Amino acid sequence: MISRETIEQVLLRNDAETVIGSYVTLRRAGSNLKGLCPFHSEKTPSFTVYPADNSFYCFGCGVGGNVITFIQKKENLDYRDAIEFLADRAGITIVREERGVGYEQKPRFERSRMFEMNRDAAIYFSQRLFDNTPEARAALEYFTVKRGLSLGFIKHFGLGFAPNSFDMFSDYMRKKGYSYEELVAGFLCGKSEHGTYYDAFRNRVMFPIIDVSGNVIAFGGRVMDDSKPKYKNSSDTPVFKKSRNLFALNFARHACKESLILCEGYMDVITMHSAGFTNAVATLGTAITPEQARMISRYTKKVILSYDADEAGQKAAQRAITLLNEVDVEVAILRIPGAKDPDEYIKANGRDKFAELLKNTKTRFEHNSETILAKYDLELPQDKIKALHELEKLISETYSSAERDIYIRIIAKKLDVDPKSVKLDVDGIISKNMKARKKEESNKFKQNAIGYSDKVNPDFMKAPAAAKNEETVIGLLYIFPEHRKHVFESDILTEDDFVTELNRRFFKYFKEQYQNGGDDLSCIGEAFTADEFGRLVKMKLKRMELTDNGTAVLEEAISSLKKSVSKKTNQKTNTFEGLYAVLRDKRKTET
Ligand code: CTP
Ligand code: MN
Repeated sequence: MISRETIEQVLLRNDAETVIGSYVTLRRAGSNLKGLCPFHSEKTPSFTVYPADNSFYCFGCGVGGNVITFIQKKENLDYRDAIEFLADRAGITIVREERGVGYEQKPRFERSRMFEMNRDAAIYFSQRLFDNTPEARAALEYFTVKRGLSLGFIKHFGLGFAPNSFDMFSDYMRKKGYSYEELVAGFLCGKSEHGTYYDAFRNRVMFPIIDVSGNVIAFGGRVMDDSKPKYKNSSDTPVFKKSRNLFALNFARHACKESLILCEGYMDVITMHSAGFTNAVATLGTAITPEQARMISRYTKKVILSYDADEAGQKAAQRAITLLNEVDVEVAILRIPGAKDPDEYIKANGRDKFAELLKNTKTRFEHNSETILAKYDLELPQDKIKALHELEKLISETYSSAERDIYIRIIAKKLDVDPKSVKLDVDGIISKNMKARKKEESNKFKQNAIGYSDKVNPDFMKAPAAAKNEETVIGLLYIFPEHRKHVFESDILTEDDFVTELNRRFFKYFKEQYQNGGDDLSCIGEAFTADEFGRLVKMKLKRMELTDNGTAVLEEAISSLKKSVSKKTNQKTNTFEGLYAVLRDKRKTET
């Protein structure tokens, strides 16, 4: 178990606004914050953060809880690991002994120690590049001759070489005092089925990945020939998440106020920097993530996208455009004629030609509309109609109506049709989409309201009226300590009065906490799942709207609950669920 004090510390030092705000773009709405829910897809924000008590709730999908719950769900961690994640984030050390019996013993790693280990590894790799061996000379030649890099830039980026050996690196690191366990955790070593250890990077040129604070956090290693896999990259480690870092942002952040060039490859970035375009960064072998988009929005207002022209590259570009637009970053698209990527282009045409390309970037609309137009033969009426429809759809995705008007005129002229008809079509698409969205959201809302798809409290529909009273009671008990004192010291309500298992468990938990003298409910996550905690937050929110502490409401709900056995017998029995409830309650009263 992690001690209460630690959990309280963790909650204190990780306020919901900052933690959740690093995943979701939040906008102020009164004393709360709203944003698009990261747990379901929506166009209008129903995800709300309540800074007053550090909780969150989504009115669209019913997910809620505190920062720990949020991290459990978002990072897919168990309760314990989510706390450690947040402790790490706030620089709180959790001592290892705190993990009680029954927990798998997972070694923990100090961030500073991991950084030190990675730095030592980077120094080792960069020194190997200058060894007087045939393989080292070949590696250095790969960078200088084959990739055209100067020694200055090789050093600037800390590039290196991992020799073709299974143990040279780990022997060196172990002499420096690092254990195999640490090396494996940092993805620098692997462990075989037989329990032996081996160097993770062998016979590869090495690209260290450095965070904005200058820590070496991971490595990418490339083969020097055509063998596969071309790159081997560190997996996520305690100090590295590829979804949250960008290659060379440590350099680019000083040069990207005007614009940031986002591309796909390490070598593209290095070549661009050495050609003077020091505002270039790359994702780490993955498509851009919402986290990266938000990070970028903190550094720049405009991103120049330079993705491969192939289908995969173009798909990735569309995703990047969407994500960057969501965080209000302007996107320009760079087209590179006659070359696969910026690296190739600069090598072939020089920096000045590349600078010209950068001046002639396309907007999202220009890029997409040109792609559509290029697909069709506008002399053929059928093709022209298809192109028109695709273009109208494209225009309908623009939020600003003034901007839409501009595009409509361009397209009408291009296809020689009446702009008025284009506008009618576009407006039609917009209102159709809006209706579909409204319908979808109201369906979802209805389902939530009647608890139809109630996976969290499956008993709810068996006796909805009683379950609602339970929710009132639990919600009020959760909010007000004075109600807990009143109820738990008087026995006016017992766990047997509960119809649904979930609410009974909440009741029991509250009571236990009260009786154990620690009347503090900040550790609910230790006994309930993230979804159950979410339900509790929902119960609370509804009752927070009361203008007083709801004593009358509580008493009413308790007396209804007490009476609910007789009441439920009168409930509709024309559904299976209703029948089931009646039978079950009968059985209960009989025994
Ligand atoms: N990548 C990867 N694993 C692979 C291939 C690619 O992680 N097997 C990632 C690397 O981050 C790489 C980026 O995707 O930098 C782009 O890949 P690609 O275009 O294939 O490589 P380039 O960076 O252009 O590499 P090079 O010019 O050295 O061939
Ligand atoms: Mn390349």
